[in-house]
Amino acid sequence: MMKKDFRMWLDTPERYGSVSRLLHWTMAYLLIWQFIVILTWRLFGDTQWVRTVTSLGPGHGTVGLLVIVLVVIRAIWWTINRNRRPVQSTTVTGRAAVVVHASFYLLMFSIPVLALLRTYGSGKGWEPWVASTGVEIPWMVALGDLLHGVLAWFLSILIGGHVVMALVHRFVWKDSTLRRMTSSLGKRPATDTGPAGNSVL
Ligand code: HEM
Ligand code: HEM
Repeated sequence: MMKKDFRMWLDTPERYGSVSRLLHWTMAYLLIWQFIVILTWRLFGDTQWVRTVTSLGPGHGTVGLLVIVLVVIRAIWWTINRNRRPVQSTTVTGRAAVVVHASFYLLMFSIPVLALLRTYGSGKGWEPWVASTGVEIPWMVALGDLLHGVLAWFLSILIGGHVVMALVHRFVWKDSTLRRMTSSLGKRPATDTGPAGNSVL
């Protein structure tokens, strides 16, 4: 029983295991929340109901810090499982999925790191996470200003495409790709029936 439970933590070629799923869905929640909050502020401005709704979840910087910690754990977990997790097909969508997934890792790390670098470079700090030095380092501020927002919006577009492709796999091509991230861990996902190979962009 213990052995079976332990195996459920790990990925297999048929499906992602419980640790990969926990990391995937926790980070999906954090990032989607981050974008919902920003879009709500942008669309409706600084009103009382916006403050109430956006205070229901973690703050912008806190989400960023959590994402950095989780993406490092996720990259380590990816390395441990790399030879046993589902492989992407060699179709165009399969290759695109590899590029998009790698970009997710890169962006989930660099976006919050650039913001923290800018905070440090501003000299004002962010207690208790970033020391307040009182000294401005202009290149750090300029780099954060240049890239933080642009890369974050680019990430939101990739996430949109990724979700659309997950739904296309499920409802148009009717293959088992979505189930690799959602099916019961005790069961093998059904065999693919769709023509397009296994990949979510
Ligand atoms: C997963 C991590 C993060 C994501 C996805 C994210 C996303 C974004 C987005 C979409 C914007 C709006 C850009 C615009 O105005 O067009 C923004 C702005 C901002 N973020 Fe983040 N952020 C993250 C982490 C952080 C962290 C860790 C900090 C600070 C410690 C931070 C500080 C800021 C600040 C000060 C702004 C307003 C200035 C600007 O637009 O660059 N962010 N962020
Ligand atoms: C919101 C942010 C999201 C990010 C950053 C993200 C990122 C990723 C990454 C990097 C992978 C590759 C597996 C891994 O390394 O863990 C993956 C796989 C997957 N994601 Fe997401 N994901 C997000 C949201 C979603 C959502 C909302 C859905 C479903 C509607 C979804 C469905 C899937 C599926 C089905 C796979 C397996 C794909 C395959 O094996 O080809 N993802 N995701």
